[in-house]
Amino acid sequence: MLRRKRPSQRGQLTYRQINRLLPFTGAPLFHALQLLATGDSARFHMPGHKGEPLFHTFAEVFAIDFTETYGTGNLYLGDGPIRDAEVAAALYFGAADCFFLTGGSTQGIMAMLAAAVGRGGSVLLDRECHKSVCHACALLDITPYFVSAPLLEPFAVSGELPAQAVEQQLVAHPDIRAVLVTSPTYYGVRRALPALADLCRAFGKLLLVDAAHGAHFPAVGLPAPIAEGADMAVLSMHKTLPCLGQGAVLLSGKGVDRRALRENTALFGTSSPSYPVMASIDLARAYTEGPGRDAYRRSAEACAALREYIGRRTGFTALDETHFPALDPCRLTVCTAGTDATGHRLADMLWSEYGVACEMADDRNAVFILTGADTGASLHRLRRGLRRISARRHETLPPSAAAPFPPAERVMRVRDAWFANTGRVEPAAAEGLVCARPVTPYPPGVPLLWPGEKITRAHIELIRERWYNEIGEITVVIS
Ligand SMILES: Cc1ncc(COP(=O)(O)O)c(C=O)c1O
Repeated sequence: MLRRKRPSQRGQLTYRQINRLLPFTGAPLFHALQLLATGDSARFHMPGHKGEPLFHTFAEVFAIDFTETYGTGNLYLGDGPIRDAEVAAALYFGAADCFFLTGGSTQGIMAMLAAAVGRGGSVLLDRECHKSVCHACALLDITPYFVSAPLLEPFAVSGELPAQAVEQQLVAHPDIRAVLVTSPTYYGVRRALPALADLCRAFGKLLLVDAAHGAHFPAVGLPAPIAEGADMAVLSMHKTLPCLGQGAVLLSGKGVDRRALRENTALFGTSSPSYPVMASIDLARAYTEGPGRDAYRRSAEACAALREYIGRRTGFTALDETHFPALDPCRLTVCTAGTDATGHRLADMLWSEYGVACEMADDRNAVFILTGADTGASLHRLRRGLRRISARRHETLPPSAAAPFPPAERVMRVRDAWFANTGRVEPAAAEGLVCARPVTPYPPGVPLLWPGEKITRAHIELIRERWYNEIGEITVVIS
């Protein structure tokens, strides 16, 4: 944490002096706020705490919690040190432009769809998309078409999106304005963005990428989505970089109307964007561009070593390049199929017996996010926990093949279903009814069924088999 220095006279600390206090340099917004915070001033503006450390531990955060005032910049006007920080981030991520978001990738996904597809338009979606995409479709009355990726065994997570299926949908629905894909997925699978970008270009469509889980890619030598041909992309800085919660960026490529994009971020954002969150986006970028790069490279190496160790010393299976060639090098997906544990059970045992908290679990996987902040001790703890738990699982079962979630028939527009009269029913009673809210195990927050889709017996059976504990009720349309 930064040491806060209160000068005895007005405005003593120069930019250069502040820089010397910082462990690393090159974060213009953070520097500007620190300069203001350490100056001698009386704040008669929001927020009400006036930068005073009411809660002692959070002193530094409160000190730089400003509003739009002298020297802080205005996010939605795109000026001041916020703009400098955005330009630095755009350069780092190889994008034509960058917009800071304080409402997570959720805000960016909505802004991106509003700008690229607009009210009442159509979009082709990776079925593995986050529920915020569904929310945007409800708000903007967008018609979604879907393409699904086949499942990877034994993980039952989606692999490559078949380009042929994307092309078929683009031919069948010429009203589609943009294609939105998730890359990397929660489980660390990367889509073939350059090929998808070529396809989109050939059909005159925009390629939008939800890279919420991929903000660390440049730090591990992988391109960010715009450099791979995407027109717009969102990255949750808070998910994989040392950034405060809700910090995210929206990136755009050449030819995108930046003013329209900014306006659309405002449509879904608070009018009081958090300065500590924005400053931490700035800091996270400066850190990974500078000293953090080595930490992330080490984290990728540690992840590769863990995958190898899991294959050699445990009965679990780590998702690695032998299963799928393009993976996030810092995401560890551990599959329990073939043992008598579920992913949830493995996660619970790791937490209760070893104090290891995973990011998420499903019925056959536990997922771990590795970052530059991991220590040798924490990695050792994870390795030991996995080995010891595995040693106790005597029973080995033949891994059952995972059935893909059956496609669903759309019988109402997403928006109409969302805003219809609704009621809640148990899954068993939902057959033949129309879904009114996304049916979403969380995490990963990927809807199994969308509003406006008809619920069949096959859906209910699969929900019962794989997500029964997580999905107690389904919200349906009642006429
Ligand atoms: C794939 C994906 N996209 C978007 C989001 C939303 O990101 P945020 O929490 O930053 O709003 C999530 C959140 O988990 C996600 O997993």
